[in-house]
Amino acid sequence: MSQQSLLYLSRQDVEEINLPMIKIIDALEAMFFEKGNNKVEMPPKPGIHTEKDSFIHAMPAYIPSLGAAGMKWISGYPSNQAKGLPYITGLLILNDPRTGFPLAVMDATWITAKRTGAATAVAAKKLARVNSSTVGIIACGVQGRSNLEALASVFKIKNVKAYDLYPEVAKSFSRNMEQTLGVEIKIVDHPRKCMVSDIVVTSGPILREPNPVIKSGWLPQGAFASAVDFDSYWQGSALFEVDKIATDDIDQMEYYRKEGYFKETPKAYADLGDILVGRKPGRENDHERTFCINLGIALDDMATAIMIYRAARKRGIGRELPF
Ligand SMILES: NC(=O)c1ccc[n+]([C@@H]2O[C@H](COP(=O)([O-])OP(=O)(O)OC[C@H]3O[C@@H](n4cnc5c(N)ncnc54)[C@H](O)[C@@H]3O)[C@@H](O)[C@H]2O)c1
Repeated sequence: MSQQSLLYLSRQDVEEINLPMIKIIDALEAMFFEKGNNKVEMPPKPGIHTEKDSFIHAMPAYIPSLGAAGMKWISGYPSNQAKGLPYITGLLILNDPRTGFPLAVMDATWITAKRTGAATAVAAKKLARVNSSTVGIIACGVQGRSNLEALASVFKIKNVKAYDLYPEVAKSFSRNMEQTLGVEIKIVDHPRKCMVSDIVVTSGPILREPNPVIKSGWLPQGAFASAVDFDSYWQGSALFEVDKIATDDIDQMEYYRKEGYFKETPKAYADLGDILVGRKPGRENDHERTFCINLGIALDDMATAIMIYRAARKRGIGRELPF
């Protein structure tokens, strides 16, 4: 490889590589183990905010054991849905950890979708009941899909209940996911009907001033929930009745709290790294209500991007660009 050039991977290139979900889950598990042993580097993400409830975040991270170093520059705009545009878009730069040279610039949309689902699966393996077979998906967009795909990779999922603010979105989710995963999906007309499940995922818009829907008493005993939309769907009283709330990064969560999020959310008892190395317990019995708020961390992205880069080099995918 010449150090006068870098590899450019478009969204289509990244999709063509088609990294299997289970490989992403395994890589994230390895990454969280390293994180639990303090063998990674990741500062809390800074961001700029050009529209209400929007963000553009800079997300650098280094995982020495995977040889993965770089930064993601990613935006989230809830108002994009009305414009027919994706909520999340962005780019990722991968650097050579030995020289600092940029190795690749790649689309980060696919990576963000898949690694977030994979992080839910990593959490669920430790916090959900091992025989979990039913899932409720509240908000059936990109994250609704990737979270269900990841959960179906590690649990024998039989039945899914799906709710979206827009019934046509739920219908397209149902058609697509039934076909790809071979699970039975029932569209419901109220989010509460998703809650009679072993695992619940909320994946709606992240709002700084949320008007949360899920009340105390809705999450059944023994269930596990993953909120990829922060506390936007969950009332404080519902979160306070959960036995264990984990996160992917406690420092990042406390940073967001100072920024005005998580006003009524209890402190996390552990991050996934603590649980993976055994410093903190995961689920301890079948009755606990467990919860994970994965904020989405740059370590997820780097663990995934390095595999994509190596696969692209091997298969000759992408375009060489001069510096
Ligand atoms: N934590 C993370 O790591 C992480 C990573 C990526 C995205 N996200 C967040 O996940 C969320 C979803 O992202 P996406 O890429 O799937 O967006 P998307 O636009 O594809 O999906 C959002 C879905 O929410 C639905 N929706 C809107 N309001 C709703 C409501 N009140 N009730 C039910 N459904 C509602 C929309 O119809 C849409 O289908 C966003 O908040 C995004 O910021 C989190």
